[in-house]
Amino acid sequence: MKTAVYPGSFDPITMGHMDIISRSSKFFEKVIVAIGHNHNKADGMFPVQKRLDMIKSATKNMDNVEVYIYDGLLIDFAEKVGANIIIKGVRNSKDFEYEQNMALINNSLKEGVETFLLVADPKYCFISSSMIRELMYFKKDVTEYVPNEIMHMLNT
Ligand code: PNS
Repeated sequence: MKTAVYPGSFDPITMGHMDIISRSSKFFEKVIVAIGHNHNKADGMFPVQKRLDMIKSATKNMDNVEVYIYDGLLIDFAEKVGANIIIKGVRNSKDFEYEQNMALINNSLKEGVETFLLVADPKYCFISSSMIRELMYFKKDVTEYVPNEIMHMLNT
């Protein structure tokens, strides 16, 4: 059974994340969306439990997608859930450089763990959680950048 982990901060989940989840769910038996949370650091814009609710709601029609929160190293979480594949989306060369480094670190921490990089759909290349947070700060509409299912959760 091939299980893949798709880790991230998801603060909040975007249409770009949704595209990566949807595409990878067609190639793996199970995709675990894993929200990285450092209990020593302050929460981001959205509390981690709320991010979990948002992603669960946005992926409710994807039968082979599960959502969890992890604290600590991603590689330890992946081992715990029996996954040796990590999925990341790359929008540009800056993402690639960062993800290449992460992939090398994770592979050196645990041999046999592979990182699969999916090239982001061009229509989502400029979307990021930080951009959404900034637009929200200035009270701009973010409807087209986030899944419909989470819109009512953004301001509560
Ligand atoms: O969406 P992001 O901010 O790119 O997600 C980053 C995340 C949470 C996936 C990454 O920071 C992470 O995996 N953190 C957990 C600690 C870890 O495993 N670090 C890599 C080895 S030093």
